[in-house]
Amino acid sequence: MSQQTSSHVRGHASAPSTFDSTSKLVSLLIGIAAVVFGILAGIFNPFLNRAASAQGAQIDTLFSILLGISTTVFVIVQGFLLYSIARFARQPGDESDGPPMRGNARLEFFWTVIPALIVVFIAIFSYRVLADIERPTAADMIVEVTARQFAWEFYYPDQDLKTTELHIPLDRQVHLKMRSADMVHAFWVPEFRIKKDLMPDRVTDTFITGTAIGTYPIVCAELCGAGHAIMRSQVIVQTDAEFKNWMAGQIGAKTRGATAAADPAAYGRQLFNQFGCNACHALADAQAVGVVGPKLDGLAGRAGATVPGQSAEDYVKTAIVKPSEFLVKNFQPVMPQDYGQRMSAAEIEAMVTYLLLQK
Ligand code: CUA
Repeated sequence: MSQQTSSHVRGHASAPSTFDSTSKLVSLLIGIAAVVFGILAGIFNPFLNRAASAQGAQIDTLFSILLGISTTVFVIVQGFLLYSIARFARQPGDESDGPPMRGNARLEFFWTVIPALIVVFIAIFSYRVLADIERPTAADMIVEVTARQFAWEFYYPDQDLKTTELHIPLDRQVHLKMRSADMVHAFWVPEFRIKKDLMPDRVTDTFITGTAIGTYPIVCAELCGAGHAIMRSQVIVQTDAEFKNWMAGQIGAKTRGATAAADPAAYGRQLFNQFGCNACHALADAQAVGVVGPKLDGLAGRAGATVPGQSAEDYVKTAIVKPSEFLVKNFQPVMPQDYGQRMSAAEIEAMVTYLLLQK
């Protein structure tokens, strides 16, 4: 017992004082390093490419401030941890208890008040950014977005135009009214920093203002079935003149499209991509490379012989409207069952004709 007591006392005598001048100097250095690293991380934020939308720029500012604050806190915590490990580690042979610590009211006051202020600041700043990026401006342009397994459709109500890619003019706020035709999908443009769910029972709104000319991917960010990974499109930010040109071209094509029966291959190819068949099926003619469903090249050669007693036309039509009726070997029954409702009878006929052109 007496031996233990004496080693206890000796242990204390050899331990460095916690708040001596070395600790004060190290604390000062850790503080300076934390501020410097925090500012550098905030300015040179290495985790993000450049945002291509006005909303994205605001979100990036918020993110950079958060990163700066987090880096500062990280350096302070890790700095003191490493310093404590290095300086106050138990010496070999020292079996004593550490010195008794009671509270330190001043320290506790600061480590409560400072984080509380940081959290309040972040809350106010985040709220302001959110309110700002969701505020519609007077002269906005509306595009209706419909997501379905596994395709994106964009509808410009002013021009009564449907497309499979989103084109928007530079520096103009666009109001997206988004809805799903089946299950939950999410509209995500990483370069815009915008991600929002689309649901079947309500319209969700989001606002985008492209600030850099270019083409950016639109990704579905909510698991929605077998074709989820390839449920993609793109948004093209272009100058006002280019946008008007494109729009005029689309409207011209649509007017000509009324006589699409004259070119079944071109019309079928357009339907194939519009209804998202390309997400799951490979078809060279449509430059589709999906692997979830059977490859459709050469369908004309085998469709007639697949199910005894069914003509090629009936077989392909059944495969579209009742896809689980005759499953192709090694494929799962994952194709949506509602193409009979999604497509008009004429569109189904055109699709059958198109697919049977695939020798
Ligand atoms: Cu749509 Cu994932």
